[in-house]
Amino acid sequence: MTIERVRVGVLASGSGTNLQALLDAAADQDFPARIVVVGTDRPGALALQRASSAGVATFCVRRKGHPSREDFDAAVADQLAAHEVRWVCLAGYMRIVGPTFLQRFEGRVLNIHPSLLPAFPGLDAQRQAFDHGVKVAGCTVHLVDAGTDTGPIVAQEAVPVLDGDDAEALRLRILAAEHRIYPRALAWAAQGRLKVEGRKVRLDEEGR
Ligand code: GRF
Repeated sequence: MTIERVRVGVLASGSGTNLQALLDAAADQDFPARIVVVGTDRPGALALQRASSAGVATFCVRRKGHPSREDFDAAVADQLAAHEVRWVCLAGYMRIVGPTFLQRFEGRVLNIHPSLLPAFPGLDAQRQAFDHGVKVAGCTVHLVDAGTDTGPIVAQEAVPVLDGDDAEALRLRILAAEHRIYPRALAWAAQGRLKVEGRKVRLDEEGR
């Protein structure tokens, strides 16, 4: 019996290396999710080229074309809904998704953040960690809630901070870990294995 693969939309604003990791994982027909659309707020985003190269539909919705954030969020959600996506992955999406958006995809939005949350939320997390002098850094995939980088944690990977690192070396080591954990987390989501219990996510054995 073939299980239908879960339809996923990815939102990205930048270079899209995490998007690429998701596309590469989903190129395997046995991967439980399928990336059906990639959206951006920046027409020049390299992420769009990555999507097109993989034969995935794209859209661009610009913030300035919309009078309010609610209108903008609704327009992005409409695009995703038109592709019948079940899950949404934020992958370097430089916009905060508001309540209008989250209601449309309740409990089905993932984000990747380049720190071991709850340490160093917000912008430039790798630099924050480097400047703080931590000895262990890392990345987190979490479910998106109304806060900034506050939602229930799905997956994390730690990386060492080595003597001689500069902020860029650390950023790249964290990024490599991001590319490992995001596909894994999306697979669990698509399999229906993420069970939210209070603040925590339990990984269900069975899934759907
Ligand atoms: C990653 O570090 C991700 O954790 C953060 O933004 C960056 C996006 O990088 N949210 P890329 O566009 O996936 O290369």
